[in-house]
Amino acid sequence: MRTVQVPLGKRSYRILIGGGLLARLGTECKKLSLGAGCAVITDRNVGPRFAKVALASLKAAGFDPVLITVPAGETAKSLKTVQSCYDQLATHRLERKSFIVALGGGVVGDLAGFVAATYLRGVAFVQVPTTLLSQVDSSVGGKVGVNLKAGKNLVGAFHQPRLVLCDLDTLRSLPERELRAGLAEVIKYGIIYDARMFAWLEKQLPALLARDAKALAAAVARSCEIKADVVGQDETETGLRAILNFGHTIGHAIEAISGYGEYLHGEAISIGQIAAAKLSTAQLGLPERDSAGIAALFTAAGLPTRIKLSPVQRKKLFAAMQLDKKVSGGEITFVLAKKLGEVIWNQKVPQTEIERVLID
Ligand SMILES: NC(=O)c1ccc[n+]([C@@H]2O[C@H](COP(=O)([O-])OP(=O)(O)OC[C@H]3O[C@@H](n4cnc5c(N)ncnc54)[C@H](O)[C@@H]3O)[C@@H](O)[C@H]2O)c1
Ligand SMILES: [Zn+2]
Repeated sequence: MRTVQVPLGKRSYRILIGGGLLARLGTECKKLSLGAGCAVITDRNVGPRFAKVALASLKAAGFDPVLITVPAGETAKSLKTVQSCYDQLATHRLERKSFIVALGGGVVGDLAGFVAATYLRGVAFVQVPTTLLSQVDSSVGGKVGVNLKAGKNLVGAFHQPRLVLCDLDTLRSLPERELRAGLAEVIKYGIIYDARMFAWLEKQLPALLARDAKALAAAVARSCEIKADVVGQDETETGLRAILNFGHTIGHAIEAISGYGEYLHGEAISIGQIAAAKLSTAQLGLPERDSAGIAALFTAAGLPTRIKLSPVQRKKLFAAMQLDKKVSGGEITFVLAKKLGEVIWNQKVPQTEIERVLID
């Protein structure tokens, strides 16, 4: 088992990464001095696979867990589901010392985390991420929230988990497409923070796609280390944390205009990161071979590299970029790479340049 520490003073916590960890959920929670009452929030795909082990482990450690199952998929990240969770927590008389376990992908993590941040003005929560994306990204850092009709993640909070438990065995049942989408975030960490990791990924990609346990453990651990390091320096995104949005300006806009669901998040940011790499070459002199290398790695991971847009769609894409909440003062800004492993944020790019990289 590997351990990564998220350094946030009094709110510091550990990320545990390894096989067979789900069965240790109870013992690990026991170390956190939490109350006996708890709720495991999961979804309809994950619950039937893993809830039994999670509940048994909690019970064996002396906890009194209740299971709450929500629908699977992005639409469950809504205030309606939040309401239904609150009602069930109240029925089961969860109190201030009780805690919530998020068992599932990023949807469950964001939703359950938001419920934990707000129920009784905040109860503790533990993340048990079961997708690659949630293990390397969404379960770490404390951003929780739900969607509104007007857009994704528009209601939310910062609420750090007390523990993150990444059981690599859960990834075995993950659909292939979800695995590849998670790899898009893993590759991102190499580009923004660690050129050696990028080179390692170029070599280890086949092993990762084959779900080799050793390769997955190393990829998840390094990704979590980088996210922990960034979040530890800038918890609420006043500056540095923005680098985690490399490829996301265009990626979010692609998700928005294509109707959520057509592109998985990881697929949209694959296209976004390739475009951002091309912009980096044009604006900051990122060597051409590096932007070509970035495109090649996403291609090898079986991720989409480009999007065909009609003139109407292109207009919509720019409108969506303007609406993105990361826009400040009406200008679209980008995270761009100076070289592999080093990026700068808040870079303004002329619209004509963005159009050029999206076309070629
Ligand atoms: N809070 C953050 O910092 C942050 C960061 C990135 C993404 N997110 C959010 O994360 C969400 C996406 O997360 P996701 O990609 O994990 O999607 P997801 O939670 O929808 O999971 C993807 C699918 O896989 C299923 N699944 C989960 N684990 C499985 C397993 N082990 N075996 C089989 N099936 C399994 C789920 O039921 C779902 O159908 C988005 O809502 C996004 O906004 C949040
Ligand atoms: Zn992302």
